Amino acid sequence: MIATTGTGLQVHFDSLTWVDSAHYNSSARESANGCLDGTCADVLDRIHAWIASNDGRVLFWLTGVAGTGKSSIAHTIAEFYGHKKTLGGSFFFSRDQQARRETKYLFQTIAFQMGNAHPLLKTEIAGALKNQMLLKSNLRTQLRELILNPIANLSHQFPSPIVVIFDALDECEDRNAVVDIVQFLVKESLLVSRVRPLPLRFLLTSRPEWHLQYVFQDPVVEEHRGEQRLSEVRRNLGILPVNDGSHTGPGFSSDPNVGFAEVRVP
Ligand SMILES: Nc1ncnc2c1ncn2[C@@H]1O[C@H](COP(=O)(O)OP(=O)(O)O)[C@@H](O)[C@H]1O
Ligand SMILES: [Mg+2]
Repeated sequence: MIATTGTGLQVHFDSLTWVDSAHYNSSARESANGCLDGTCADVLDRIHAWIASNDGRVLFWLTGVAGTGKSSIAHTIAEFYGHKKTLGGSFFFSRDQQARRETKYLFQTIAFQMGNAHPLLKTEIAGALKNQMLLKSNLRTQLRELILNPIANLSHQFPSPIVVIFDALDECEDRNAVVDIVQFLVKESLLVSRVRPLPLRFLLTSRPEWHLQYVFQDPVVEEHRGEQRLSEVRRNLGILPVNDGSHTGPGFSSDPNVGFAEVRVP
């Protein structure tokens, strides 16, 4: 329930459409686990340090070929900040389920999770939804009105940043949509944070597919993100590199011992 604001706002909040199988601890991910204790310590430390820092890098891109442990790390981070009560939300894309391979309800799903985790954010989000046109607005508008502005309006309430996690962007079926989304995350966050503090961090994971390399190398995106490539982790864990044939495009090596080659897509 929304505290002190009456049932009207609850009705607005309930108008969100959300994907109920995408969060890190959803029943659809029953068998998914985080990293085994003691593994991936370097990468986890780097991600925690990025979240704690305030250097203008709103995004962190964790990339590596299949089986390098991206989802395990994303799960571990989600669990950690979930317990700390600073997880905004998580969306684990999956090509195996229609609702998890499309972006239509991505930001409504995160807004729904954020509101349920943080009562004050719920009030802000529900207030924004008095304008019901938002539910039919484009993703850029939904991001701004349902996620960024509510957090900026309450920035003084969050001494530690809110963390939002999108795992496996490469499993999203609409490549153009996912490229747009990465750009919106950076560009809209910059616009909001020029006016007010925006204590928010987006952790994104994906295979190094060419359309994702392309957008993460966009100059504005590149300036405002951190990055970790996971070949080292794979070595540390003794997990064999996987080349399942899905890594096509410029720069990808046909050598199964090399997950991807360094490339810059023009
Ligand atoms: N740090 C880790 N601790 C335990 N198991 C791991 C770890 N990293 C990867 N695995 C296991 O290896 C497999 C592939 O890991 P996953 O996180 O799904 O990789 P990716 O998302 O990069 O494809 C899974 O079965 C996962 O449980
Ligand atoms: Mg994965």
